[in-house]
Amino acid sequence: MTQAVDLLDPAERLDLDGLRALQLERLRGSLRHAYENVPFYRESFDRAGVHPDDCRSLSDLARFPFTTKADLRENYPYGMFAVPRERIRRLHASSGTTGRPTVVGYTENDLSMWADMVARSLRAAGGRPGDIAHVAYGYGLFTGGLGAHYGAERLGCTVIPASGGMTSRQVTLIQDLKPSVIMVTPSYMLTLLDEFERQGVDPRSTSLRVGVFGAEPWTERMRREIEERFAIDAVDIYGLSEVIGPGVAQECVETKDGLHIWEDHFFPEVVDPVTGEVLPEGEQGELVFTSLTKEAMPIVRYRTRDLTRLLPGTARVFRRMEKITGRSDDMVILRGVNLFPTQIEEIVLRTPGVAPHFQLRLTTRGRMDALTVRAEARPDADAVAREAAARSIVQAVKDGIGVSAEAEIVDPESLERSVGKIRRIVDLRERQG
Ligand code: DLL
Repeated sequence: MTQAVDLLDPAERLDLDGLRALQLERLRGSLRHAYENVPFYRESFDRAGVHPDDCRSLSDLARFPFTTKADLRENYPYGMFAVPRERIRRLHASSGTTGRPTVVGYTENDLSMWADMVARSLRAAGGRPGDIAHVAYGYGLFTGGLGAHYGAERLGCTVIPASGGMTSRQVTLIQDLKPSVIMVTPSYMLTLLDEFERQGVDPRSTSLRVGVFGAEPWTERMRREIEERFAIDAVDIYGLSEVIGPGVAQECVETKDGLHIWEDHFFPEVVDPVTGEVLPEGEQGELVFTSLTKEAMPIVRYRTRDLTRLLPGTARVFRRMEKITGRSDDMVILRGVNLFPTQIEEIVLRTPGVAPHFQLRLTTRGRMDALTVRAEARPDADAVAREAAARSIVQAVKDGIGVSAEAEIVDPESLERSVGKIRRIVDLRERQG
């Protein structure tokens, strides 16, 4: 199945040369806008000895300095804004795990562009005008709920603004209002799965046709699990508040081969996380974004800390990013071996006898770090099955990741459930003073 051309935006119909020309024109304008209106950018460009006029080709962007989360924190709350505060129509904030939050702002045009990008994403996911869309991303300062909401309205959907939480009511709403599309974190979708089963409702019997899952990493195995258990198509949506929110990149339902980046608005680079050097297409590194059209808060070479690789377009002219393996901040270094929660997810989901709920507990044993994978038993798994599951997880971690870990199979329903973004790592290591 390919997407009918008449459903695409004009930018989605450009050829590669047309797209690159549009990007360069927009990039030059955006660098100028940042330099002229945000003292932080003026200083950082001046310090690096570059001027917006030096950007004559897209590859010249590599000469410009990076922007980090720390830069946003230092300019908290309004220091990164490029327009007078009166032109800001909405604020969002990202909590972050440590320290001050970062605040982001949107002009009316920014909000409209954002809604367009989420509408485009939903369409790529298989959503159509007239669909009923159940939005279970959290509403509030988090960009998930409102971002999905206005995008679905823009596409012409009927929106159910469920937000996160009140899980049993979510099931009732889905049963009664019959949405065809659900937008939610993949971990909360699993919480909903348990609730369907608790209420004795077959999750495969709902009106849902497609799920648009993001805001946290999830694996191909998780896709299969969700698709099979709910009988839906499960596709990936990516975004971050500093760039806009959800709708920076989206997987197309007809190919499910990574996420097309809406690069007529968000220009991607992948860099070596240590040296900052731009990597060629296909190599894995840290994703970096430059906004091309944002007014309130233009962002130049923002270091996302998300690890992926860029690939050529397939279902669209835009480049794809591979499903995210993890964030550099989520990487656990265990006795010299790098490990991501997604690798454990792959293992847990293919282990018989355990449910798709797991946690990584890090402790200190002697002077060494130790990892225990805690996974939940499926209700029908007896002691023998649990024992076998634990052994199989330990072996798979050893063989696949190359490090020794322990596995503990806990009772059904005993691990914390997600209502939004899930926390996979519980770090109980003693800090060396
Ligand atoms: O999570 C925006 C969003 C909402 C995206 C709903 C998709 C759906 P932040 O709270 O600023 O924004 O967190 C951004 O979440 O840098 C990634 O580490 C992670 N993330 C977002 N989408 C994905 C995804 C929203 N599809 C951070 N796969 C990002 C993996 C994701 N990680």
